[in-house]
Amino acid sequence: MKAIILGADGYLGWPLSLALAQRGHEVICIDNLATRRCVKEVGSTSGMPIESMENRVASLNKRVRKKARFIKADITKGSTLRDVIRREKPDAVVHFAEQRSAPYSMINEKHAVYTMENNTIGTLKLIYAVKETSPGTHILKMGTMGEFGTPDFDIPESAFVNAKIMGEDKYSKILTPKWAGSWYHWTKVHDTHNMLYANSLWGCTITDVMQGPVYGTRTKEITSSGLNTRFDFDGVWGTVVNKFCAQAVLGMPLIRFGKGGQVRGFISLQDSINALVLLLEKPPGKGEYRHVNQFMELFSTLELEKEVKRAAARVLGKELETMQIEDPRVEKESHYYNPKKEILEKLGFKLAWKLKDNIPEMLRDLEPNKNLLSRYKAVIRPTVKWK
Ligand SMILES: NC(=O)c1ccc[n+]([C@@H]2O[C@H](COP(=O)([O-])OP(=O)(O)OC[C@H]3O[C@@H](n4cnc5c(N)ncnc54)[C@H](O)[C@@H]3O)[C@@H](O)[C@H]2O)c1
Repeated sequence: MKAIILGADGYLGWPLSLALAQRGHEVICIDNLATRRCVKEVGSTSGMPIESMENRVASLNKRVRKKARFIKADITKGSTLRDVIRREKPDAVVHFAEQRSAPYSMINEKHAVYTMENNTIGTLKLIYAVKETSPGTHILKMGTMGEFGTPDFDIPESAFVNAKIMGEDKYSKILTPKWAGSWYHWTKVHDTHNMLYANSLWGCTITDVMQGPVYGTRTKEITSSGLNTRFDFDGVWGTVVNKFCAQAVLGMPLIRFGKGGQVRGFISLQDSINALVLLLEKPPGKGEYRHVNQFMELFSTLELEKEVKRAAARVLGKELETMQIEDPRVEKESHYYNPKKEILEKLGFKLAWKLKDNIPEMLRDLEPNKNLLSRYKAVIRPTVKWK
């Protein structure tokens, strides 16, 4: 397979590039290094030191037969994306190249507009580039389970549902109701709708992945520090498990938002990459729109906190406290949550890491970077409030 990875410098993009290249696929990496710049803007850095894209690709190319390439480009600007797709006619384009922090999108108007433009324009330009220059290409787009919010109904693994409208007797096929919880999450809803429309008009072949929060420090292909992927732990860019693990290594109290009853579906970095490889190697039929819910285990924040505390006591010999703060987000602190998932299992997916087994590994990986993490202690507390 020949695959273009948009957002290849990112937390997921780099390990997916590694995994595909090491499985013998041809990989073309595209990124404008926006995440490096935006993380620096909030005074933070990656908690696992990362090499430049050029150095990482050079290290990768020592291990693989089909050489990977890196192109620095902004997919929302100019014609690079279209030119590369026209020239390469890839089997698949994986689209990760979006502003992916909910708090960053909520900082102020400027950040909301940047997020909205960057994400929706990038997806639209990708759709047109594929439709007009390589219509057989499979687009695998990364969305989020956050598109659905936390509704009182079971979340289907489907873009459409049959529903009775306003007490009618008959069922109508409607878009699955969604209620996103930040400007960032809304961009993913808009992307989904734009891709559904492109699929219905032109038969674009699309996998839209609704992924839960990812945690982890490595995948099996990351065999040396030169191949590290980024690891965000600050109050703007970190996701909850990664933040808790960094706080644990620093011996800080774990910072909990409100009562901690928020439930989400989590997935390890290794399982996310395994699932994406599977979805690429087993694409949907030509002209099909495939909606996949990609998460493995449901946990409340309180349950995560307990797991991290347990692992910290065992691995680091530290007894951690909790610091409860007012939830800076607007979200329910206790709610129903029952998302469905079966597509990955049907394709043959096997779970690699359970959260309780992965957290001790993460603490061991982060411990040598304790000095680095402690230099950025000031940016660990959340500063962005939704209201
Ligand atoms: N990490 C998670 O927990 C998680 C969960 C669900 C969904 N996702 C989604 O998965 C995707 C990848 O997430 P990640 O954690 O690797 O994020 P990331 O920020 O580490 O990676 C995204 C990459 O895209 C690049 N990028 C952004 N805008 C671009 C543009 N206009 N042109 C070219 N490159 C651009 C960034 O520089 C970055 O390297 C994102 O779309 C994110 O929304 C992530």
